[in-house]
Amino acid sequence: MRQSRKIDHIKNALNKPDLAEAGFKDVHLLHKSIPEVNWDEIDTSCIFLGKRLAAPLVINAMTGGHPAVKEINKNLARAARETGVAIALGSQKAALENTGVIDTFQVVRKENPGGVVIANLSAHCTVDEAQRAIEMVEADALQLHVNVPQELAMAEGDRNFRGIASNISALVRQIDIPVIVKEVGFGMSMETVQQIYQAGVRIVDISGRGGTNFITIEEERCKENSRQFMGDVSDWGITTVTSIVEAKELNLPVKIVASGGLRTSYDISKSIALGADLTGISRPFLQTLIEQGSEGLVNHIQQLINGLRRIMMMCGAAGIQALQQVPVVITGNSAQWLKARGIDIGKYARKNELQVKD
Ligand SMILES: Cc1cc2nc3c(=O)[nH]c(=O)nc-3n(C[C@H](O)[C@H](O)[C@H](O)COP(=O)(O)O)c2cc1C
Repeated sequence: MRQSRKIDHIKNALNKPDLAEAGFKDVHLLHKSIPEVNWDEIDTSCIFLGKRLAAPLVINAMTGGHPAVKEINKNLARAARETGVAIALGSQKAALENTGVIDTFQVVRKENPGGVVIANLSAHCTVDEAQRAIEMVEADALQLHVNVPQELAMAEGDRNFRGIASNISALVRQIDIPVIVKEVGFGMSMETVQQIYQAGVRIVDISGRGGTNFITIEEERCKENSRQFMGDVSDWGITTVTSIVEAKELNLPVKIVASGGLRTSYDISKSIALGADLTGISRPFLQTLIEQGSEGLVNHIQQLINGLRRIMMMCGAAGIQALQQVPVVITGNSAQWLKARGIDIGKYARKNELQVKD
């Protein structure tokens, strides 16, 4: 069941338009007419999990666990290696239950021996499962996914979510690599990020609403199996933009990964300027790989990185930390949401006070 579900997810995710807005239309970076930056000096690289990436980008968690997806993981890993970005695996639970499919995950480390590879399991997992998943791919970090709406949309999904925070906290204490708590496209509030921080986690992937929607993906599986469904809440969740700002608002020493509906270099730049340390993209990379092969995916990622450089130039930011300091004007529904949540968005629009000298 778990293995065939991974195939259904890929089938149902492809060719799906993003039904909701991730909020990026509401975010505006301040143009700088006199940037005082030389194109050759612009450095899109960053350090993540102790390794240098060519850009703050991860091919985010998708697949593994079925012989048919080994080639996909191999090509995703190759593209990550060639472009210098990080890669996360799909949930490794299938390989813990059936060692016959371990190679569909291990191929990622084989293809990308020196890169950032992130393991993935549910936040329900045991310490032993987490350790086996980490060893399987010599992971640099472990993503623990939280996905309540998706589980509810699955007839066979979990229904008991008691004890997750304490499980996360036990995992953090007993695992010797960083733990990332990750949503799957429903976003995180500041209350959630605070809970995660209190459990000892220092990296969150807020994976917000506006991109891949697991309620509609599961809906198709339900239709195929003629089950009842929860389509009335198909726009459930917190957008990616508002999730980044909610997480940032706490001012905690927590690194923020922005994912969910990021589609362009502009979305990547806006996420970083809002305070994200890393950005993640999933479904569009899979789509490019299926349609244009691994060279196509390498080009896609390189174009995103080139676009990021152009935007950094127009903002006068020579590096990623400078991009995080670029003023951002937040308008529209995102501004309304954030104001209603008591967040002062003015501080994003005027990050550095103007200093005028005679
Ligand atoms: C086919 C597919 C499979 C996925 N499987 C997983 C998974 O196993 N674990 C996980 O944490 N997230 C999984 N995700 C969620 C993504 O990592 C990401 O959070 C979500 O798709 C939003 O990003 P996007 O809009 O760029 O696709 C999957 C996404 C896709 C498209």
